[in-house]
Order: sequence, then structure tokens, then C-alpha cells
Amino acid sequence: MVDLDALQAELSSRRDIVENALEELVQAELAGPSSDAMRMARSILMAGGKRWRPVLTLLAHEAAGGDTHDPILNLALSFELIHTATLVHDDLNDGARLRRGAPTLHTAYGDAEAIVVGDYLFAIGFGLGAKSEDRIVDAVMRTCSAIAAGELKQMHHIRDLTTRPEDYDEIVRGKTAGPFSIACGSAAVVAGASEEVVSNLESFGMGIGIAFQMVDDLLDLTGDAHMGKPRGTDVHEGKMTLPLIHALTMLHGESRNRITEILADFNDSYWDELIGLLEEAGSLEYTLNLIETQLMTALNHLRSLPESPARRLMEGLAEISIGRRV
Ligand code: IPE
Ligand code: IPE
Ligand code: MG
Ligand code: MG
Repeated sequence: MVDLDALQAELSSRRDIVENALEELVQAELAGPSSDAMRMARSILMAGGKRWRPVLTLLAHEAAGGDTHDPILNLALSFELIHTATLVHDDLNDGARLRRGAPTLHTAYGDAEAIVVGDYLFAIGFGLGAKSEDRIVDAVMRTCSAIAAGELKQMHHIRDLTTRPEDYDEIVRGKTAGPFSIACGSAAVVAGASEEVVSNLESFGMGIGIAFQMVDDLLDLTGDAHMGKPRGTDVHEGKMTLPLIHALTMLHGESRNRITEILADFNDSYWDELIGLLEEAGSLEYTLNLIETQLMTALNHLRSLPESPARRLMEGLAEISIGRRV
């Protein structure tokens, strides 16, 4: 096990590579015909995202045998740009006001601008990834389609109290875990790894992506000062996250009626009562247990790769991103 300072330093060095390459791209775009779009885009793009997807891409490439970052850098940037594009559109749909500690793009510049700038980020992001081999371009295209399908399914389940855990699983795989999976799997393809390694890295990415979204959904309920976004956006929006789905299944009688009323018309005066009901149902505990199981399964896939410094960094990143180590 690497010590925490060394782990943070190694992760920061990979994050710096991403940050510098993004800064270069921003400057090039600001000097070109799309400067207006980039001027708005950079208020979110450079506002301090955690860069987990591109950092994972670099590390998975190393763990799969890649020896320099050059062949993977465009793809790593591509994943961050596509991710940021989806956040710009997601925030507009969710009516969110704060992202990465900064005003969301639609709040700062307007709804129409956020649609256009999200498209712009997606276009340059997909363009960078499109320099890859066909197999990767196809997989990125399928992942992006699945993000769209996941977001749509989520919208169709707003305030739907009959939403099942299977629906939640499908939504999360599409909107969040798929991008983590492709980041890891495609990096292995670029490194020329065996199909077995590609598949284990894809499964690792899927597992930590699912766990990551469950943590995000839990923090939306319990709050976290470092999130750069306020708590409660999901409940206000009527988003059916796992703790709520679980509580609706477990509670009966008066408690079940009460949580139904609270969710139908949520306001901030209900917080304590809602958290009390979730505790009564064991839903926070249940979600934490599932996060742990996903993380363990993901780490088992990772540990079937040959031992290497990059593999150990990925293990550390998995634990940090899921909040087991901070
Ligand atoms: C936010 O992703 C969207 C989710 C999948 C929960 P991140 O938490 O990785 O956001 P940034 O990129 O660090 O801002
Ligand atoms: C993640 O879902 C959004 C995408 C992956 C597009 P959320 O809606 O939960 O993300 P946050 O909470 O706004 O960051
Ligand atoms: Mg959102
Ligand atoms: Mg969220």
C-alpha cells in the first residue's frame, strides 16, 4: 500500500499533465474562430474539476503497459471535455446553480448559451477522441449514446415512486459508469494490452463509476462541504436515487405515507424528517454497503492485472474518489 502523501503527489502529477494540456487547448481555441464559445466554456472547464476520468485514462494506459503518455493524452482530454459538456447540459436540466464552486454556465450566460456551449465542448471532445482507432471511436460513440439514454431514463423517472433498483442501476451505468469504463478500457486498447486486460479494466471502470455515482447521490442527501455544489439538488428535482428507492421499499404504514408526502413536495424544512426516515429504513447504511461491494468487485478486477506502480495508484484513486481515503 502506497502512503497517502506519495499517492496524492503521484495523482497530482498526472492531474498536472491533464491541466497543462487543457490549458494549451483553451489558449489555442481562444485564438481561433470559436473564441466566444471557449470564453464561456472555460468558466466551467477550468474551474477546478477533479479530473478523475482523464487521470484514470493515463493510469490505466500505464497499468496496461503504455510507456509514455503521448499516445493517450488526446483521448484523456476527450473524456474530460465530453464529461464537462454533459455537466453543462445536466446542470441546465437539473436547474443547478453551482458547479465546481462556480456559477453554472446557464446561470452565468443563459440557457441558450449553455446548450450551444455544451454542444461545442462535446464537438471538440469527440473530435479529439476521433483520432483514435475505429474500435475506440465506436465504443466512445456507444458510451455517449448511453449517457443520453441514462439521462433520459432518469428524467422519465422524476418523482416516480415505483422506480426500481434495476432502473437506478441502468441509469447509473449509462450516465456515469460507462464513461469511467471506456476511459479505462480504451486506454488498455491504446497500450496494446490483451483482451483479458482490456476487459478487466472495463469492469474496474464500470464498478468504480457505479460506486462513484452512489457516493454522489448519498452526499446530495447528507451534504459535503467539498463538493462545489449544494446539497439537496436531487430531492428538490424529484430524482429517484438509491437511498430513496430503498426507503420506499422498506418503510410501511405511517412512515411510508410520510416519506411519500415529503418527496412529492420537498422543501428545506423537511431535511431532518427525511434523514430520520432514511435512517429508520436503513437506507443510508444499505447504500454504503453497496458502495463497498462495488468497490471490492472493481478492485478484484484491477488486481488481476500484473502488479505495477500505476496499478497501485489506481487502487488508491478508487478509494479516494469513493471517499474511503481523503
Ligand atoms: C460529477 O462528476 C457528475 C457525477 C457523475 C456525479 P465529478 O464529481 O467527477 O465532477 P468534476 O468533474 O470533478 O467536477
Ligand atoms: C451525473 O448526474 C450527470 C452526468 C453524468 C451527465 P448528477 O446529476 O447526479 O450529477 P451532479 O450531481 O449534477 O454532479
Ligand atoms: Mg445534476
Ligand atoms: Mg448528483
